[in-house]
Amino acid sequence: MKRLAILLSGRGSNFEAIAANITAGALDAQIAVVLSNRAAAPGIERARALGLHVAVIPSRGLDREAYDRLLHDEISKNGVDLVCLAGYMRLLSAGFVAHFAGRLLNIHPSLLPAFKGLNPQAQALAAGVKISGCTVHFVTEDLDGGPIIAQTAVPVCEGDTAQSLAARILRAEHALYPQALALVAEGRARLRDGRVNVLAPTS
Ligand code: GRF
Repeated sequence: MKRLAILLSGRGSNFEAIAANITAGALDAQIAVVLSNRAAAPGIERARALGLHVAVIPSRGLDREAYDRLLHDEISKNGVDLVCLAGYMRLLSAGFVAHFAGRLLNIHPSLLPAFKGLNPQAQALAAGVKISGCTVHFVTEDLDGGPIIAQTAVPVCEGDTAQSLAARILRAEHALYPQALALVAEGRARLRDGRVNVLAPTS
């Protein structure tokens, strides 16, 4: 069974969706540690309430490399197989990303490669697209540009605000992230030439 580290900075609803899927038996994994750079992140409170191991590493006064070394140590200490970014609002150093290549996942609320970076829901509205969605991808040094594991399309509705679109996409995220994680955990999402091949389930 794969051991997960979840990295979050805020609300933590994707973390909760992953935890709920594990509890329900839909995802064969276990959460080894929930890590945050913010002690006040609501997701950290929820992790504690679920009785999970939590580690808060404040970033004040540390440069990116020094901070990521602490992060790396905490992850290693907990014997982690896969690292999941779930609303983690810090850029990761090149060394960290390289070390966890193929084992580091992120979820982004757009159909990548469209609308990378901040406020992708507002970007989608500004572009006038009629369909947006969410993407789970492996993390590389290219921000929001790593190999795509799975995506869900979500309609943009007439009269949407960035908030209403974000809420609709978030519901899709909660289903997608555990499914994408299951693909990786089962060894069915194979990285090859910078793309992910998804293999059929073995019966
Ligand atoms: C989600 O929209 C996720 O796609 C993005 O940050 C948001 C985190 O939400 N990377 P939550 O903390 O999981 O509720």
